[in-house]
Amino acid sequence: MARAFAPGKCILFGEHAVVYGHPAVAVAIDAGVEVSIRESSKWTIEGMDFDPSRHPHITHILRDVFKYNGVPLEIDVKSGLFSAAGLGSSAAISNAMGAALQFHIDPDSDLDRIGLARMGHSAEAIAQKGRASPTDTATSALGGCVVVSGELVSETTHIFDASLETPEGERTWSISRAIVPEGLDAWIVLGFTGIGSPTGRMVAGVASLLEEDPSKETEMEAIGKITHAGLAALSAGNLEGVGIAMNACHERLKSLNVSSPELENLIEAARPHSLGVKLTGAGGGGCMVSLTRDPRRVAEAIEIAGGRPLISKLGADGVKILT
Ligand code: MEV
Repeated sequence: MARAFAPGKCILFGEHAVVYGHPAVAVAIDAGVEVSIRESSKWTIEGMDFDPSRHPHITHILRDVFKYNGVPLEIDVKSGLFSAAGLGSSAAISNAMGAALQFHIDPDSDLDRIGLARMGHSAEAIAQKGRASPTDTATSALGGCVVVSGELVSETTHIFDASLETPEGERTWSISRAIVPEGLDAWIVLGFTGIGSPTGRMVAGVASLLEEDPSKETEMEAIGKITHAGLAALSAGNLEGVGIAMNACHERLKSLNVSSPELENLIEAARPHSLGVKLTGAGGGGCMVSLTRDPRRVAEAIEIAGGRPLISKLGADGVKILT
């Protein structure tokens, strides 16, 4: 039997703009996905027959990446993430499945986190019709605080590069680690609206908006500048500055039409107890994120407003094999 865990992620700044090469900063969160596999007489998932069309990420990892043709597997997936909620659950499934499969095939090999991030990215690209940044998969694979950008961002540690043929042409991203001071006195609290929102649909909506109204490019550039400022504040341990950048990023995301009344409701509920608050991930429904020194109070405010809260530290470990 092989078991692996991969964390979800939360984007602090730069979602959507990162698809077009602008920078984004994301952290791995405590909650994630555990995948276990064992050899069996037939293919099953969660005790039911495995239908590849219902599990595109797992199927992609098995067939296209590992070209697995061994004995059938019994696959179990335990998720602590709300799905289609902007927390990178599909990236975490890809990474945990890839890690478990790598261990199953060759238990002595070192876990190839960069390889897993690349595999997950190709699965996301298929699901998002060719427009997907490597943010979710890289953050879940590497853990900590990850910067993804069309250009290498100074004062970060470069880890690898990724590229993709998108409908707008070939894009390349540089993936690096942000240097964040230890022991920051702040938590993130995620609030799920209860409304699932497929990333592919939201990304396609932004692409149509940019086509209809090219002046919206300025919002993308503004998000890029805010992300640089937010990253500088984070690296200096200036939490108030991080909060200001999060608030500013949210305003720009609103003008890309990716917020919703349900997200705004949770954001307003959390604001009085937050250093900064914004939607996170693709938007539409999904989750908002608050940066706070008082996570219990924010979680209560989210719950009272009708949302489902999840508290996490800023930057959990990346994908790992569970023994
Ligand atoms: C999704 O978590 C983040 C988006 O920027 C899409 C992507 O980066 O592929 C909306």
